[in-house]
Order: sequence, then structure tokens, then C-alpha cells
Amino acid sequence: MKFFLDSAKIDEIREAYETFGIDGVTTNPNHIMNSGKPFYTVIKELADFVKEKGIEGVDVFPISVEINPHLNDANEMIEMGKKVASMCPNFVIKIPCTLPGIEAARKLEQQGIRTNLTLVFSASQALIPAKNHSLFVSPFIGWKESSGEDCVQYINDIVTIYKNYGFYGKTQIICAAVRNGKQFVDCAKAGADIVTAGLQVFKDSFYHPFTDYGLKKFQGAWDKTITEEK
Ligand code: E4P
Repeated sequence: MKFFLDSAKIDEIREAYETFGIDGVTTNPNHIMNSGKPFYTVIKELADFVKEKGIEGVDVFPISVEINPHLNDANEMIEMGKKVASMCPNFVIKIPCTLPGIEAARKLEQQGIRTNLTLVFSASQALIPAKNHSLFVSPFIGWKESSGEDCVQYINDIVTIYKNYGFYGKTQIICAAVRNGKQFVDCAKAGADIVTAGLQVFKDSFYHPFTDYGLKKFQGAWDKTITEEK
């Protein structure tokens, strides 16, 4: 299972790349706002980052960039998608799973521009990007679980449907808005291709207090170990 960082802050992306070896990035308008910088400044930074790291290209380190969420016309979505995609080969155009979004994504894919259908909240919605050959589908996990739903069946259903029809691995399932280690495990057990989460979620999910406890114990033992004779 691949790890994507859900962020538009270049310092967080840098840290997650060095520490966890993340495989890609997802952004959304909220993350752009939280970066404190204008949209095109942020995506220029992302384009510069992949150049700096020698990971510029269509086959490595995909970066999902969400288009203006006010656009409600497929042609306008396509126009903005093309503009953004032309700025960096790593960019994947993130489009909401609305009717104009579905049309725009299908037409962009037909023109060789990779897409990520986002704001997906049901297995039936997840069928659409698969049939339209989108590179990614983003079913949101954390939002549904915050509202009291258990997402295990939801992820399993998407994986099963994709396997039934040969979509699995072609349209890659990004479990989005993952909030904790339990959700990481649920996604991995179900066979999700990717999880995307914030930096702090990665840090918290891979922390266990027994690791610290064990480390202290072994430090104590190290300090009391008889010194070797010279
Ligand atoms: C997914 O690709 C979204 O960017 C993301 O997971 C949205 O959720 P959040 O910002 O609430 O985590």
C-alpha cells in the first residue's frame, strides 16, 4: 500500500518524503488555504520540489491538484485541468464526483490527462471513475467515520467491485482523510492501493508507547553492561 501526504505545505511534504518515503501528495482547496499562499504559488513550489528531488515525471510521485471548486461546467473544468496539468508532469487533476466533474474527468482522460475523482462517499460513486479510466478514485474514510459510519464494508465493497471487473490496480483506490492507525490497517486489510493522510496522522499512527518503554529499558541495560577489556 502506498502512502500519500495530504497537504499543500512544502515543509511538511519535504519532512514526510524524508521520514516516511511518501509515494505522492494530494492537495485540496483547504490545504492550499492552510499553506497561506496563493494557489499557483503553491503548485509551482510542488513542481519545483519534484525537480529538486529528481522525481519529475508521469511515472513517479503523483501530485493531485484540485481545480477551482466553484466550476460547474465540464468545459471550464477541462480548461483549468489542462492548464494545471501542463505545469508539471506529476500533476493529476482532482475533480469532484459531480455530473460535470464526471464528464470533465472522462474527457480529460481521453486526452491523456490523468484524473482523481474526489469527494466519493459511496461504492456506487466509485464505479464511475473506474469505468471512465481515471487514474485515481478518492473515497473519503475519515469524514464518514466521524459521522458514525464504520468504513470497513465500504472499502471492502469498492475493492471487491474493482476486482470483479478488472478495474483493480488500474483505477487506484486512494483511501482519503485517513485519521488514525486503525483506519490505516482497515485500508491495508481491504487491499486499498493508497492511503492519504496528514503528517501528524502518519506520526501518531506509527507511534506506540511500548516502543519508548522498550527503548528506555534497553538504554538502561546498555549503560550497565560490563565494559569490554582492552
Ligand atoms: C483527499 O484527497 C482530501 O484531500 C482529504 O483527505 C480531505 O480531507 P481532510 O482535509 O479533512 O483530511
